[in-house]
Amino acid sequence: MKIAIIGGGGTRTPILSKGLMELEEDIEIEEISLFDIDRERLSLISRVLEGIRPPDSRVRFSFPEDLREALKGSSFVFLTLRVGKEEMRVLDERIPLSLGIIGQETVGAGGGALAVRTVPKVLEIARLIEEECPSSWVINFTNPSGMVTEALLNFSSLERVIGICDGPSTIKAFLSRFFEVPEEDIFLDYFGLNHLGWVKGIFVRGEDFLPKLMKYLPMVPEIENVVQFPLDFLQKLKMVPSPYLRYYYFPEKALKEMLNEPKTRGEKVLEMNLALFSALREGKGNPVEIYEKYMKQRESQYGQIKEGFNLEEGEGYIKVALEVLRGLAGFRVGTPVVNLRNRSAILGMEEDDVVEVPVHLLSGFVRPVSCGRVPEECLDLMKKVKLYEKTLVRAIVEKSREGIIEALSLNPLVGSKEIAGKLYEEFSRHQAPFWP
Ligand code: G6P
Ligand code: MN
Repeated sequence: MKIAIIGGGGTRTPILSKGLMELEEDIEIEEISLFDIDRERLSLISRVLEGIRPPDSRVRFSFPEDLREALKGSSFVFLTLRVGKEEMRVLDERIPLSLGIIGQETVGAGGGALAVRTVPKVLEIARLIEEECPSSWVINFTNPSGMVTEALLNFSSLERVIGICDGPSTIKAFLSRFFEVPEEDIFLDYFGLNHLGWVKGIFVRGEDFLPKLMKYLPMVPEIENVVQFPLDFLQKLKMVPSPYLRYYYFPEKALKEMLNEPKTRGEKVLEMNLALFSALREGKGNPVEIYEKYMKQRESQYGQIKEGFNLEEGEGYIKVALEVLRGLAGFRVGTPVVNLRNRSAILGMEEDDVVEVPVHLLSGFVRPVSCGRVPEECLDLMKKVKLYEKTLVRAIVEKSREGIIEALSLNPLVGSKEIAGKLYEEFSRHQAPFWP
């Protein structure tokens, strides 16, 4: 089969390709086609690919200049774009901060701006997928992953779309180390939207370990660093929230910390990426070593919830994607947490809302595991954020300035029409080509 990676010049491509080559026999991969509008980056990344390619691999890498050609006949299409690159991410985070609100690449106003740039591109690609490989599975890594998946499922005719985030799997990997049980033995009873989710149960061979976790937490030094929430808060909540929920639960503290940092995350990533690509361009040293060092540095800044990066081990995003791929190819796998249509998984959410929940995978088939009723406060926040997401995606599709302002004002981290209007002004000035 053929697999396409759109945005192949991205920094996760080597890990993804390595994982795919390991599945080569199992799922008969013949060709991996990489497309990127930045040809230079793609060629630099391809040097890393050559280095990690096992000598006995028969996978053929192709680098077509035409997107259609990359898609043609693909069975799986990975979407991993950053429209406007790291430079625009810096603005996504800086502009909201300059207006006194949270500046983050996927949630709040920053995520909104990223969606404004990304959704039209992704839908353009979707049209080509409809023509060139309509029965392929589209695996989306592109952030804001929930909204991009929402756009694909509700504004194109594609049905086989799965959105991926490494958040839930990172929590699972942490729990596996914490309890010293294999990940395969854990069912993560997780529900939410992308970057807005909660673990409400940790089932290990039938027993819920969540109460145990709450009991043991005080005995683990520096636990606040690991889960990024105060202990008493967790014990009252009786759930493990996604680290991104800090922005909603502790907005003042999070904002203060962000404003005190000399550099935003986006600024740091921009620097690291410039250094990576210039080292690869220079061509001194082994490209794989350069790449590994870069990934270690990038991941080490995530605190202790992520274990250090290791190319052999792979990485959260890619592990989830490979599990999904294996499941769709007919292998027995676990219940990875992904983004897809709710159907009736979370009681109180609409059928076509894209949510993040564990799924059953069978050969060529995916369905959410039913989750049932969730705590009222969680449902309430999910509904607010979903209304924002849906309003925003519609406004972007309709190229409506008023609609985008309206949508931004619905985001709980933006909070008012006045700030939403100012955000629009600033963003459309600094990111002019991308804003209607
Ligand atoms: C986590 C999130 C991703 C996000 C990434 C940012 O892994 O789940 O959605 O893209 O963090 O990492 P970065 O190194 O770019 O700040
Ligand atoms: Mn994510």
